[in-house]
Amino acid sequence: MSKTTELDAWSAGQNYEQYMGRWSRRIATQFLEWLAPGRDADWIEVGCGTGALTATILARCAPQSILATDPSEAFLSHARAAIGDRRARFEVASTERLPAQDASADVVVSALVLNFVPDRLSALAEMHRVLKPDGLLSFYVWDYPGGGIGFIDAFWKAATEVDPHAAALDEGKQFPFCTRSGLAEICRSAGLRGLSIEPIEFETVFPDFEAFWQPFTLGTGPAPGYCVSLPDDHRAALKARLADTLGVDGPIRLVARAWAAKAHRST
Ligand SMILES: C[S@@+](CC[C@H](N)C(=O)[O-])C[C@H]1O[C@@H](n2cnc3c(N)ncnc32)[C@H](O)[C@@H]1O
Repeated sequence: MSKTTELDAWSAGQNYEQYMGRWSRRIATQFLEWLAPGRDADWIEVGCGTGALTATILARCAPQSILATDPSEAFLSHARAAIGDRRARFEVASTERLPAQDASADVVVSALVLNFVPDRLSALAEMHRVLKPDGLLSFYVWDYPGGGIGFIDAFWKAATEVDPHAAALDEGKQFPFCTRSGLAEICRSAGLRGLSIEPIEFETVFPDFEAFWQPFTLGTGPAPGYCVSLPDDHRAALKARLADTLGVDGPIRLVARAWAAKAHRST
């Protein structure tokens, strides 16, 4: 297992919620407004995590059904407990093999997942397999290379100033395909048609510096995983560097921007 994979500790649902899930819920609403899907659709969600997008689909899109999948049983338990809706079914699965028949879904979506998947083209092919003819396939990822997920970008910039070795773990460097052109290229390679790619942006507001820092100490996700792996003095130096950069007085406001792609089944 690589160092990065070890740090990608997607396990504790509550910790994920504090670090990312609350922002996932914000972007899910904006994403669905842009996607504008029809009602009564059969959905498959890939990498549902703690259910941020699942819950938003149920609340806003009047689906017939949703099969929500994730490799993490801990995340699925969190999602099942939070979402008691008979239209939703949760199953352990990864992008390698979705537990669904060919051409069985009207809409296949994935939120903030594809950058964590080693073989993205195979993942898109599998998502494509389960789409009905004329079905809609859509996904979004943070604009890591453009510094578009501001709180993570600030973290890695400070981490690299304190220790240049941290640069290799910076998600902006690890996920270079997360740009408009990068998404267009993988979608073209996957043979998707009628492609549309747009940025989705909002502001993440932390009431004060401690509220900004605390989620990084919970260990869930690449940056928090790195944070908790540090010796105490190193972590204190990182915290001090971030406090210098962001300031300790008053709220911290940072951009959150994702690139979202939607396309139709190619045949
Ligand atoms: C940043 S979280 C996003 C979770 C959720 N979609 C959201 O919007 O909050 C990334 C998710 O990808 C899942 N994941 C990682 N590798 C995966 C794979 N190969 N196939 C499917 N999901 C995967 C993780 O378990 C985690 O739930």
